[in-house]
Amino acid sequence: MAKALSPFIFFSLLISSTLSVILVTAENYEDHVFGRSLDPKLIVSKKQKLSHFRFYWHDIVSGPKPTAVKIVPPPANTSASGFGFVAMIDDPITIGPELSSKLVGRAQGFYASASQQEVSLLMSMNFAFIEGKYNGSTITVLGRNPVFHTVREMPVIGGSGLFRFARGYVQARTHKFDIKSKDATVEYNIYVLHY
Ligand SMILES: *[C@@H]1O[C@H](CO)[C@@H](O)[C@H](O)[C@H]1NC(C)=O
Ligand SMILES: *[C@@H]1O[C@H](CO)[C@@H](O)[C@H](O)[C@H]1NC(C)=O
Repeated sequence: MAKALSPFIFFSLLISSTLSVILVTAENYEDHVFGRSLDPKLIVSKKQKLSHFRFYWHDIVSGPKPTAVKIVPPPANTSASGFGFVAMIDDPITIGPELSSKLVGRAQGFYASASQQEVSLLMSMNFAFIEGKYNGSTITVLGRNPVFHTVREMPVIGGSGLFRFARGYVQARTHKFDIKSKDATVEYNIYVLHY
């Protein structure tokens, strides 16, 4: 025998369904875990690799289209090292020493004069690659670059894409420095562990 729901039953149903919505919502918030342990195999299933990359970094400060621009000048009366200046870079990196050789990515970031004794830069940059399977992956370098030393070694502190969990080091060697224009070409060798 079908009877219309009494107002009381209807009301209790409404209340309980509202309550259950509130309870479900509360439960969902309790499900938001801030930190948790994961099985490393979920992310780093393959074996760790060691890769070597070699390319040339072009720091173009002269001409109408510089790729390195000074964004903070050194304060007056500082050392000859220009202590305090900051330059932002979007430097092309190529497979060979000539700028016209194949572009494999860009070095984006900044460098800053961080020494009062000699010309030594704090380098903070991401190598954003476009070559082959590395297209879209990045390697991050943060280190000290005393530019007149023959070999400057800087740490690889991380990466993205194919370079997740990256660590390693780079060695930078000046290939060409034009005293007049201040444009520089630097050979970079990267040795990087990644997955
Ligand atoms: C900066 O150098 C100039 C020229 O040598 C000098 O006249 C001036 O007093 C110096 N300023 C400071 C703050 O040391
Ligand atoms: C790199 O990837 C981007 C985005 O997927 C694509 O547009 C571009 O053509 C690729 N570049 C090269 C050189 O393969």
